Amino acid sequence: MDHCPPSTLTSENSPLGSDSMRRLVLPGVELYLGDCLEIAPTLQGVDAVISDPPYGMKLDTDNSRFSGGNTASVARRGNGIGTGKGKGIIDDDKPFDPSPWLAWEKVVLFGSNHFGARLPVGTKLIWIKRLDDAFGSFLSDAEEAWMKGGHGIYCKRDLTMNAEANTRQHPCQKPVPLMAWCMDKAKVPEGATVLDPYMGSGSTIIAAIRTGRKAIGIEKDPEHFKNAVERIKRELAQGDLFLGQNS
Ligand SMILES: C[S@@+](CC[C@H](N)C(=O)[O-])C[C@H]1O[C@@H](n2cnc3c(N)ncnc32)[C@H](O)[C@@H]1O
Repeated sequence: MDHCPPSTLTSENSPLGSDSMRRLVLPGVELYLGDCLEIAPTLQGVDAVISDPPYGMKLDTDNSRFSGGNTASVARRGNGIGTGKGKGIIDDDKPFDPSPWLAWEKVVLFGSNHFGARLPVGTKLIWIKRLDDAFGSFLSDAEEAWMKGGHGIYCKRDLTMNAEANTRQHPCQKPVPLMAWCMDKAKVPEGATVLDPYMGSGSTIIAAIRTGRKAIGIEKDPEHFKNAVERIKRELAQGDLFLGQNS
């Protein structure tokens, strides 16, 4: 990563040269508001792409349709769907093309069941988001990610998103420990730089921070970008507090 003063939001002086793009540099973290397909080719020093792109499934984020408006009752069934209030996911209305991301040495892409025909053989990482006794009760029990290289299938159970159905920031929000697990499975070393080109609420970035990795996040939706920036700043501030208490 190149070095800018911490917390510098640049637009006029952006190397990307467009008003529609914003760049924020925080300790160990670089965040971009804009289109990853334009920004990612300008980046240097990326060691791994760990991401959860738009799947091309035209996701209806209004999950109140399942429960007469009571999202908590859906959450009890463990549906794993957030409260997007019907606002669509950018670029989710067309098939996802993974090809721009395949050249990096280490790659993990969620949603690969939607675009598997465009991927080479690789490892499957399965997020089990439901308890055994609730399997089959409502929509998917699990989500799949493709990892470059190998051919095994590995699983991690994480139920935290169910409890956060009403409080999560993004309808597709992933648990932070899940994204850290993906980095470990991809053997991304401590200190390496992880790129999440479809950052959403920033779970991948927070996972990198918590595990001693550096991170670059890109998000096209200004509202999600703003929320991710606030969440990431809170995470970094907590770290400072912790260090302060121990120094
Ligand atoms: C599936 S969501 C990611 C959610 C994320 N994993 C989380 O934990 O919050 C995909 C995100 O990619 C963003 N997106 C879609 N197309 C994009 C593009 N071309 N460049 C940057 N972001 C994009 C969407 O706005 C959406 O927030």
